[in-house]
Formats: sequence, structure tokens, C-alpha cells
Amino acid sequence: MNTPVVLSHYEVRPLVEAHQAGREQAETSPDLGLTRVTVTLTPEGAHFPQGLLLRWEEARTILEHPNLCYRLTPEGIEPLQAFSEITRRVVQLYPTGTAPTVLLSGIAMHRVQDTDPWRDTQEKIRAARPRGRVLDTCMGLGYTAIQAARQAEWVLTVELDPAVLKLARANPWSRPLFTATNIARVLGDVYDLVRGFPDATFHVVIHDPPLFSLAGELYGRDFYRELERVLKPGGRLFHYVGSPDTKMGRNLTRGVVARLQEAGFRRVKRVPRAFGVVAVKG
Ligand SMILES: C[S@@+](CC[C@H](N)C(=O)[O-])C[C@H]1O[C@@H](n2cnc3c(N)ncnc32)[C@H](O)[C@@H]1O
Repeated sequence: MNTPVVLSHYEVRPLVEAHQAGREQAETSPDLGLTRVTVTLTPEGAHFPQGLLLRWEEARTILEHPNLCYRLTPEGIEPLQAFSEITRRVVQLYPTGTAPTVLLSGIAMHRVQDTDPWRDTQEKIRAARPRGRVLDTCMGLGYTAIQAARQAEWVLTVELDPAVLKLARANPWSRPLFTATNIARVLGDVYDLVRGFPDATFHVVIHDPPLFSLAGELYGRDFYRELERVLKPGGRLFHYVGSPDTKMGRNLTRGVVARLQEAGFRRVKRVPRAFGVVAVKG
């Protein structure tokens, strides 16, 4: 077996339909939309060129669970989900037809309405303007780190939850996180870790935290002071905040802007396209 095969209902449905139509071959993606292959269909199942067989009963299981991605192994299919000791909830890789997201306590880690996780990340990166050394505070599936690393010299990305790291390892869209030579990954709590970084280390900080209700301390003045301290003079912060159009989102953004200013940031501006705020170290 070469590269692993990762599938969701988006990739499996065309195979089942082609088989039902009596065809002996069909095209699909073996990696959640990144590449395409031709698959041979037999009464037993769908044979991938990677040497793996998806049995028809397994294909039905995948179609019955549209909120999950599965890894195909020589032993059969494995759902890409894990129990998080941190949140005491199951985290799962959630398919979108393109780059997947993670459902964390049932909440998607990226925007999926009217966009997809990869395009959502492109908006964040456009607002952050990565260059030089970048701190990506909350790794998740690593999309911000991966896209930042295409423009920056070096990216340090931090993730608290080993269960999320496990999903990132299994996600084809997260592969550059583990292969790019200018991305360093750390498993730990960025709230504590940042205190150990020297002053003026980073040109850019990308701060894409979980919801305020799940990680309030990452929206606090003390943490913002640390982010300001580790930025170089003139360095830029992008802070994802979420829903600029709801009353709750507007209130949260107002609080974030005020606390960033109190923490010493200047030119604090809302960026509604990226659902966040940018700020500069004075
Ligand atoms: C919104 S997601 C980040 C998405 C990410 N930027 C991406 O491109 O996929 C937030 C992530 O922060 C992680 N997290 C939560 N608290 C953290 C902390 N204190 N330190 C580091 N990571 C944390 C969560 O486990 C989750 O994976």
C-alpha cells in the first residue's frame, strides 16, 4: 500500500451509483478531493489502485454516516474520530466535498456555510499577511499554518488537543503540516507556552481560537499582552473572532477590539470578510 485512502459519502456515492448502473470502472478521489483515480468495480466492491478494496457493505456504512470521513485499510474502514480527554467529547473529521473540518463538541472548526474550510483559511491569510516568522496559536487541522508557510519564512503552530492532532495526521489536506520544512509543531497550551517566548520573536501572529465559550482565556487582555510582547515592532496580529453579523458576534468583536487596545495594540481594525480583527504592534 502506498498513500492511504480517505473517503466520505462525497467520494463513495459515485462508485455505488456506477456499480448499480452496471459499470466496471468509475472515477473518484482517494483523498477527499485532492486527486482523482480510476477505481475498478466488481461484485465484491471497489478496488483502488492503491491496492485497497472498499466492500459494498462498507460503502453503505459510509453513505449512512455523512458527517464522518473514513480511512480505508487492508482490514476495512475506520471512522476518523477520536475521544478528546481535553474536551471530554468526540472530535470527528467532517467532510465538505473539499477540505474537511473538525467537529469539536459538535461545532465546526472552520466556516462551512457559503464557503469551505480552505477558502475560509484563505480569507484569514489575506488579512494576516504572513511574512518572516509567524506564530499560529491554534493549529487545528493546520490550514492556517500550511497557507502561512507558503508566504512566510517559518511558522510555529501550537495545538492543545492530542485528539485533534490525531485527526490532522489522518487528513490528506493536512499533509504539508508534517512535510513542510518551515513548519514547527508543538503540542501544548499556547496560553502557557507564549510566556516562555522571548520578546519581539515574531513578525506575524495568527490567532484562530475556539469559540469564546470554550476558551475564554484566549480572548483575555493578559493573553493579548503576551501576543503583543512576542511580536516585533510593526508586527501584525490577525485574530479570528467569528460572526460579525450577529448581535453576539458584534459584542464579542467590540470587547476584543477594546482589550487589544488596552494590551498595547494600535490600528485595531475589523476585517468582516475574514470574520476577524487585525492589529499592529505600536
Ligand atoms: C478554530 S480551531 C483552529 C483552526 C486552525 N487554524 C486550522 O487552520 O485548522 C482552534 C484549535 O485550537 C485548539 N486549542 C484550544 N485551546 C488551545 C490552547 N490553549 N492552546 C493551543 N491550542 C488550543 C483546539 O483544540 C482547536 O484545534
